[in-house]
Amino acid sequence: MSDVKNILVTGGAGFIGSHTCVELLQAGYGVVIIDDLSNSCEKAVNRIAQIVKQAEADGKAPAGASERMKFYEDNVLNRDALERIFAENDIYGVIHFAGFKAVGESVEKPLEYYYNNITNTLILCDVMRKHGCKRIVFSSSATVYGEPDSVPLSETAEKKPATNPYGWTKWMIEQILTDLHTADPEWDVVLLRYFNPIGAHESGLIGEDPKGIPNNLVPYVAQVAIGKMKAVRVFGNDYPTPDGTGVRDYIHVVDLARGHVAALNWMDGKTGVEVVNLGTGKGSSVLDVVAAFSRACGRELPVDIQPRRAGDVAENYADPQKAKDVFGWVAEYDLDRMCADSWRWQSMNPNGYAD
Ligand code: WQD
Repeated sequence: MSDVKNILVTGGAGFIGSHTCVELLQAGYGVVIIDDLSNSCEKAVNRIAQIVKQAEADGKAPAGASERMKFYEDNVLNRDALERIFAENDIYGVIHFAGFKAVGESVEKPLEYYYNNITNTLILCDVMRKHGCKRIVFSSSATVYGEPDSVPLSETAEKKPATNPYGWTKWMIEQILTDLHTADPEWDVVLLRYFNPIGAHESGLIGEDPKGIPNNLVPYVAQVAIGKMKAVRVFGNDYPTPDGTGVRDYIHVVDLARGHVAALNWMDGKTGVEVVNLGTGKGSSVLDVVAAFSRACGRELPVDIQPRRAGDVAENYADPQKAKDVFGWVAEYDLDRMCADSWRWQSMNPNGYAD
């Protein structure tokens, strides 16, 4: 029996999943990815190995780290696929990313979102339980706070009714995992509430690769920067914020990934349910992001002020103190670094992984 702890990463070929797999491997964990590639591609899996091989060569990863990865192209809804994975691998814990994540699309397709995101979690937990694996980190979201009464947001802030089915799935899955532990205290659950993950690995080999027109701000700005889009759509400049545009807590995806490693390291030998925000504690406006990306790409990016987007809140940023107190984790990278890394990824891969 190897002393390497294998982590099943559902959705591990995705934006946050792929960056987390890199950090897990570099930290000495083994990684087993299940991903149906509906919102990612196998090239991302190959690039994870490429990055970790280089890290090994640079002495930044244990020898053999890049070999400790297995990939199963399958869907978490497929119970047989999960059974096979647990039969073929000694799984220490699970990081559960796999799920649909587009806010607007969830409003149009609620049935698909509830079915996919909730059912895949129920099946995953049932198979985990059957194989005696009761350690899970769940990819939750600050969206469960809804329209905040005040900022910064700590984990004790009230969970508000979600404003869209995507947000409800995060809300409900948090409840499911909490109830699972209540019924069986052997479960060890960490609910990580992400704020706004952006940026890319410094190598430029992996990054955010949304299909179609990006819903989120930074991938859209990146496409303006490479000339794919004409101007940044600014959804409202009449919010009660310093410059009138929406304020969010942007966090570098590599910082976020390292937060998952810190969570797993902390979970060793524990049981319980822990809710932790992963954010920087700093709010940045849409225009702050445009200015930072303009610095990164070396030209002033044009903006087009448009009406507010339905469902958006004015301001939302984290109180990151608990992650520091509990995990000893603090986000390192600032907005300029996030935009510089995002620009490198986008300019090296104008068509994402399709290049
Ligand atoms: C950020 C700011 C917009 C696009 C959502 C989910 C969250 C997470 C990330 C999935 C807001 C403004 C945006 C654009 C703009 N989930 N904006 N022009 O809405 O904070 O969070 O995505 O990954 O759970 O809730 O992120 O990037 O869409 O918006 O002006 O073209 O940018 O109004 O103020 P959001 P976002």
